[in-house]
Order: sequence, then structure tokens, then C-alpha cells
Amino acid sequence: MTYLDHFECSECNERLPADIPQSNTCKDGGLLYARYDLERMKREVSMERIARGPASMWRYGPLLPVDDIENAVTLGEGWTPLNQTERLAQEIGAGELLAKNEGMCPTGSFKDRGAAVTLSRYRELGIQDVILNSSGNAGSAFSLYAARAGMHCVSILPTDSQTSSKKQCSLSGGERYLLSADRWHEAGGLVDELSKRHGWFNIGTMKEPFRTEGKKTMGYEIAEQLGWEMPDVIVYPAGGGTGAIAIWKGLEELMELGWVRGKLPRMLVTQYEGCAPIVKAFDDGLEECEPWGEINIPPGGLKAPAPAAGKQILRIMRETNGGGIAVSESEALEAVAQLAALEGIFACPEAGTTLAGLKKALKSGFVSKDERVVLVSTGSGLKSVPTLPEFDIPQIESADDVNAGA
Ligand SMILES: Cc1ncc(COP(=O)(O)O)c(C=O)c1O
Repeated sequence: MTYLDHFECSECNERLPADIPQSNTCKDGGLLYARYDLERMKREVSMERIARGPASMWRYGPLLPVDDIENAVTLGEGWTPLNQTERLAQEIGAGELLAKNEGMCPTGSFKDRGAAVTLSRYRELGIQDVILNSSGNAGSAFSLYAARAGMHCVSILPTDSQTSSKKQCSLSGGERYLLSADRWHEAGGLVDELSKRHGWFNIGTMKEPFRTEGKKTMGYEIAEQLGWEMPDVIVYPAGGGTGAIAIWKGLEELMELGWVRGKLPRMLVTQYEGCAPIVKAFDDGLEECEPWGEINIPPGGLKAPAPAAGKQILRIMRETNGGGIAVSESEALEAVAQLAALEGIFACPEAGTTLAGLKKALKSGFVSKDERVVLVSTGSGLKSVPTLPEFDIPQIESADDVNAGA
């Protein structure tokens, strides 16, 4: 049973009913946050009961917006490992360092959490047709979960999205289209228009409140896997910024329930230097992000020139004494190699930006050795194989060609 109660605007606090599909478009430019009856839940649901739940994000069922979990659209997403990374920590001069390995989700990225919750709820509410624009991984997740749900999903991807995403969308049998990568800033408007024209519900980034609800379970899991304790710093690779907002929302809810010790972690956001609207706005002391001009980054999830919830993410970074760090593509790829070679974690380049950013933050003293840090490794390297470095691998004909240990 869900304790979902109503929606609340992040800016004007207006309340709206949660049992009808709502778009994230309050007149004040706020986001609609799903609000739960946490007082009642505190009396009726214990932490112990949650801990006995399934090894998936559905263990947090009472805090998810789905009336009947029996009807959830699920492939077993969530409850991903939070790996200690001792050798890596030693190498980069960090204290306690952990990586939340979201590459273990069914379609290879954390987007599965949002897809599972969003489609479960809209199917319950009688919606059959949905549309989104996605730099790739959300398209993969929503298309495959829509196939699971028996729903119709239309994905608009940029021409330069990863092959993995194009194939996942296509194999799912979903409807998918490519928009020229240099016109990607128009994708949101195009989806709005198609949504109106065909009556398809717009589930794009921050266009509705439920994707955040799925992603917030990353925050719940980090706290629970640390024995219901907050880490000191969370490093998150931000595109639209939904994940960072969602983790913060999840942790705030746990605080309100009294289930977690410590204060909210510092939110450290990483982006590529070639598209860093959030980092720039933070450094310039702005309240909103300004649209980024020319984008010069590898394909993947950080291609968000005008983050839909820039205001909210900037506020969270400031309120938690966090920050933003931009890194180059080569720094991110070097970090991917370190994660693989020192810890066996095969991460995507977006996740590489978190380690690359952390290294800079340790060097400048912004993050200290006393702090317990969690890197959110948002996806598997398998999603981004063409972007990863090429290697000259010796071909052999016989045992004599092997120079052992070289
Ligand atoms: C692998 C990966 N990491 C990070 C992001 C950025 O996520 P958010 O939109 O929550 O900022 C994305 C978004 O597509 C992604 O695919």
C-alpha cells in the first residue's frame, strides 16, 4: 500500500491531487513533488519491515506512488551494490570511498528506476501512450519497460546517441525517431508538440513527478546500505539533474521519518567541460541555469544544455554546501579505466566524471580525507562501448608469441 497523499509545488507549495495525471508545470515554474503521509507511515511501517522486503527498489513500496505493488512493471531494478573501493581511495588520496553501481540495473543504467515507477503508476491511472525525449539511456529504459507493461512508448533520441540505446529502443518494438544532434535543444519543444497532437502523455525529464520518485530510491538505498547513516558527500553526474534532486528528496524523506542518522550530504555535481550549464551557473552565483551554447561532449546522458530543474538543483547544491566540477572527456575516460583496473567496476563515461571530479575536489581541498564519499556510477560501460578507449591487443598464433606478464 502506498502512503502517497498529494502533489506539492516546490515553489508556491500549492497542493494538487495525486490520483490524476499531472504535468510538472505549476504557474510558478515549480516542480511537483509527490508527498506522502509520513506521520501515518511512521506509526504503521517499521524500518525492520522495509529491511525484510525484496532485494529490489520495491522494498520501499509504501514510499512509492503505486497503489498495488502486485501490478508493478518490474524487471528487478534497484538494490544495486554499494561497493567499498579501498584500492582506488588509496590511489587518489580519499578517505572512505564507495561506488553505487547502477550499471547492475536491468537495461544497464539507473534510468530503470524512473521507468519502472513512472510506467507502473501511469498504467494504474489508465494511460497507455507515452512520449519522451532522451539522450539515450532513458529511451532504452522506458522502451523496454513499456514493452514489459504492454504500453506504447515513443522515444526521440539524438542522432549521436549510443548504439546500445538505438538498439534497445528498436528491439523493444517501441516507436523511435532520431533528431539531428545539432538540433537537440529543440527536442523538448518537439515532444510537447507531439504530445498535444497525438494525446501521448509527456514523460520527458522533469515533465511529470513520478520519474523522480523512482530515482529517489538511490538515496534510500545508499542510506540503508550504510546502516541507515548519511554519507558526507554524494558525487552525481548531472544532465537534467533529476537524479541529484531525487536522491536529496529521498534522503529528506528518510530524515522526516527519523530513519537515518546524520545530516544531508553535500551534493557535488559533475559535468563535462563541453556542456556544463549547472556548474557554470553555480560558479557564477546564478539562481537559474543559462542555456549552454555549442555542445562538445561524448554521446550519452550529460547532453542537457538547458536543465529543466536548474533552479532546484542549484538550490540543493548551495543548501548542502556542495558544488559543481567540470571535467574533460579524457579525464572522465581515465577515471573509467581506474574504476575498472583498481576495483573491477565497469562504468560508463558519465560515471567517470564523478571520479574525475572527486580527484579535483580532493586536490583543491574542497573534499577532505575525513569525509565518507559516495560516487553514483549511473550506468554500465557496456552502454558506451564505442566511446571507451581503443586498445592495441596483440594477436597471437602460438604460445611463443606470448610474452608472459607484459
Ligand atoms: C548514464 C547517465 N548518467 C547520468 C545522467 C544524467 O542524469 P540526470 O538527468 O538525472 O541528471 C544520464 C541521463 O541520461 C545518464 O544516462
